[in-house]
Amino acid sequence: MLKVAVLASGRGSNLVSLLESEKVGSLDAKVVVVVSNHPQARALSVAREHGVESLICPQPWRQEDREAAQTAMSDALQEREVGLVVCAGFDRVLVGSFVRLWEGKIINVHPSLLPAFANTLHAQEEALSHGVKVSGCTVHMVTEDVDGGPIISQAAVPVLPGDDAASLSARILEREHRLLPEAVRLYAGGHLRVEGRTVVVGEG
Ligand code: GRF
Repeated sequence: MLKVAVLASGRGSNLVSLLESEKVGSLDAKVVVVVSNHPQARALSVAREHGVESLICPQPWRQEDREAAQTAMSDALQEREVGLVVCAGFDRVLVGSFVRLWEGKIINVHPSLLPAFANTLHAQEEALSHGVKVSGCTVHMVTEDVDGGPIISQAAVPVLPGDDAASLSARILEREHRLLPEAVRLYAGGHLRVEGRTVVVGEG
C-alpha cells in the first residue's frame, strides 16, 4: 500500500478529506504521517484524532536554514518509506533540493485554475480583485517552478455576484475535497503518466 505524507500548515480540511477517503477504502493509499511547520496547526490535531503520526518541522526564513530543515523532513519521510508527498495547504515553498529528491512524488492542491493566480497565498482574493467569472482548484505535480508543475486535475466553480473571499474559498474548497483524494487514488493506482507538461490519466 502506498504510504503518503501530508504537509499541512493550517486547519487541515483537505487532510480530513484524505483520511475520510482512506477510511471508506477509496484512497488505495495510507496516510502515515502529517507534517506541519506550525506547532498549533489544526491539521496536527486532526492527525492525532485519526491516530496518524504527526511531526512538527519549522521552516525558517533563511535559505540555508530552510534547506537544512527540509533535508531533515526528507530524511523523516524516507525513514517512514513514504512514496507520495501531498502538500495540502502547506504555506512554505519547498526548496530545490527537496523537490529534486522527491521528483514525481509530490503533488499540491491550489485554490485557483492554474496557471492563473499562481504562487500566492491569496489566490481567491486575487481572483475576485481581477473580476474573474470562473475560478476553481488545481491538483498538480510539484516542480521547482512554484505552482507550475504538470496539471493532474482541475475543477471550475462560478464566481457569483456578492461573493467575498470567504464564500468563494468555501465553494472552491468543496471541490478540493473531492479532487485531491481522487488524484491520490489515481496516483496510487499507477494511473498517472507525465509526458512533458501533460499528465496522462490512463490505466496504469
Ligand atoms: C486550500 O484552499 C488549499 O488549496 C490551499 O490552502 C488551503 C488549505 O486548506 N493550498 P485546508 O488547511 O486543507 O483546510
